[in-house]
This record gives sequence, structure tokens and C-alpha cells, in this order.
Amino acid sequence: MKIKKVIDDIYRFSVNIEDKSYLFEGIWPIPDGISINGYLIKGEKNILIDLTQNIFDFPTEITQQMEGLTLGIKDIDIIVLNHMEPDHSGWLREFCKENQKAVVYCTKKAIPLLQAFAGVPAERAIAITDGMVIETGDYELQFFDTPNIHWPETMMTYERKRGILFSCDAFGSYGSIDEDAIFDDQISQEKHQFYETEALRYYANIVATFSTFVLKGLEKLKGLEIKMICPAHGIIWRDNPAVIIDQYDRYAKYSKGPAEREVTVVWSSMYGNTKQVLHLVIEVLRKRGIPLHVFQVPGDDIGYILASAWKSSGLIFGMPTYEYKMFPPMAHTIDELMVKKVTNKKVFRFGSFGWSGGAQRDFEIKTEKSGWDIIGHHEWQGAPTDKDQETMRKALETYCDILIDFSK
Ligand code: FEO
Repeated sequence: MKIKKVIDDIYRFSVNIEDKSYLFEGIWPIPDGISINGYLIKGEKNILIDLTQNIFDFPTEITQQMEGLTLGIKDIDIIVLNHMEPDHSGWLREFCKENQKAVVYCTKKAIPLLQAFAGVPAERAIAITDGMVIETGDYELQFFDTPNIHWPETMMTYERKRGILFSCDAFGSYGSIDEDAIFDDQISQEKHQFYETEALRYYANIVATFSTFVLKGLEKLKGLEIKMICPAHGIIWRDNPAVIIDQYDRYAKYSKGPAEREVTVVWSSMYGNTKQVLHLVIEVLRKRGIPLHVFQVPGDDIGYILASAWKSSGLIFGMPTYEYKMFPPMAHTIDELMVKKVTNKKVFRFGSFGWSGGAQRDFEIKTEKSGWDIIGHHEWQGAPTDKDQETMRKALETYCDILIDFSK
């Protein structure tokens, strides 16, 4: 990848993680990759905003990209670190060994992490205060504390003269970036749809837990005239940054009230007796015009289930009893949904049992603090009878009535 001009003497350097077996954060599949972007302001002082991870020889690749502007590591005067997670700071240790003069602008909370992750002493850092401005040449950088979007030390940087927000994780997405299509106005409608889907999955996997902080951060940004958003993952929004701001606002608000009028169905079955009523769930929801997304566990990845559940107003779980409790892979899935604070959902559960039930009780205890409204459930011994199917159908009709009313 080549370094790309953003505007004036501001440039984007970037790498794509293309290895399909790589799991982002060690957990999340990225079959279509992810970009890690940083920005360079060349001028009276040479400034880097966010670095890269020290994997796949990325630091060497970015050094070469910078050389395209006849700049070396030793020429950098200032590093702005919006966020200390190693995908943006992994290069810092080696960078600071080669460049002994650059100072690091970061939040006060980030300073101990400079030492812990990169062995960089506090003396090399300048702690920003919220709203603080530094001026260098024709550029004015203003820093904003935006904790927990994504880690507690996170901040954003705003170039005041041009209205550019360097937002780090916020407004980012999974998905590699084509070298010749780095801006929102350079990509097709189909590609926009792809990045929207991947921005939602990124949000649900990485940021969702902190949605309250996202809403606070968005409120703070409202006072700024944002003409361009330069995130650390994904495309640059210069034509219409409001698109991704609105998407983020919507995603964050899913944590507070109804999301979309959609249902995420997650099912497990040991011998097919729970699976036997899955067709009924699909049939009833389709007849009522409610879009649904169906996942099986084990099998489907939790990262995708999280994205779907985050966006859905309704959740339906089908799982059998296993040793008096929920089927273990489903119990794990439900744990993950709760860790990511998937909340305010209308919920239904069904499943088969052998000698005795237990899954429903386990489910209710485990989800007591989930913020889920459990509308109903149905369990049966062994295989479902015609009567079970009829009971399920009626219960699902009631569920649909409540869901439609909830997600008006
Ligand atoms: Fe892209 Fe929270 O790191």
C-alpha cells in the first residue's frame, strides 16, 4: 500500500490484515480483513497520529510508506496516541528506540500503559487535557477525552482549521481497504453496504459494551464542525461523515431501547428434537413479516451472533436441557451476549428435555440481570407432539404481537 494524501500535507498510511486465519483481538474472525490506519501531518513539526501493530512486518511497511514522502522515523517530532490498544501502539517500543526525540501526546490514563506495553517512560509523554489545543505551522490540533470508545484512556484528535476528526476506533469497521478507494466517495453502493455491515459487526464485537460512553462522546462531538472523519480502521469519510455518525448513534441507542424490528434466532439440538420446531419459528415470524436471522451453536461464530443480536429487538433461543441445565454451548453464547451488554430485548425460549427439565430455570437465573423481557417459553419431553407444535404456534403469535408493538 502507498501512503495517500488526505488533504494538504495530511496523509494516511495504512496496512490491511489479510490473513484469513487471523482473529482480531484473538477472538473475532475477519474473513474480509481489516485495515489499520494512521495519519501523518508533514510540516513545521512532523506528527504521526496513531501507529500500527507490530505484526506481519507492518512497521517496516509503514516506514517504507513514509519514505515515499522522504520522511524517516527520526524526522517525526510528535506522536499522538489516541488509544493504547496494541493494534495502534504495538510499534511504539521499536519506534521510540529509533527516535529518541519525539514526544507522545496522550491522555493521563494512557501514560502508565506507555510503560507497560512499550517500555516508554512517562517523561516522554505529555498528558492532554480535554479541549487542549496545540498549534504547529498551519495546523491546530485539539484533543478530546472520549473514554471507553474503546478503552478508558481513549481520546480523539480534531484538526480545527480543516474540521478533520481523527477518531481512532470510533466510526471504524472491519474490512480491508483498496489502495485506490480510501474515501467514502470512491466506493460503490455495494461496498458502502459491505462496510456498513462490517461497521455494525465491529461495533457489536469491540465497542458495544461501552455504548453509554459512545453516546456521551457523540454528545461532546456535536459542538464540532466535522467535515471529515479519519478513523483508524476503515474508510475515510469526507463526502458525508454524517452517514457514519448517524450509524454510530443508532448502534449506541440500540442499548437503550428497541433496536430494529428483527429477531435473532439461536438454536442448538442434540438429537433433533429441539430442531423439529425450528421450521415453525421461521414460518410464524415470516408470516408476520418479521425479518429473522438464524444461527446454530456450536457452529456459527459468536462475533456474527453478537452483531445480529445487537441489531434485533427480539431474541429466540432454542436449546435442550443438558444435565439439568442449558445445553453448554448455548450457555456460553448467552454469557457472551450478556458480557457485551446486549439488553432491552423481547425473548422467547423453547427446547426439549429427556428425564427432567432444568434448562428453563437455568436460563431464567442466568439472564436475571440481562435486561431481557422473557415473553414466554415452551418445553417438552422427548420429541414435540402435535399439541406441542400448536402450543408453540400460539405462544409465538403472542410473541410477535408484543415484538411488533415494542419495535413500533
Ligand atoms: Fe483498534 Fe481498540 O483498537
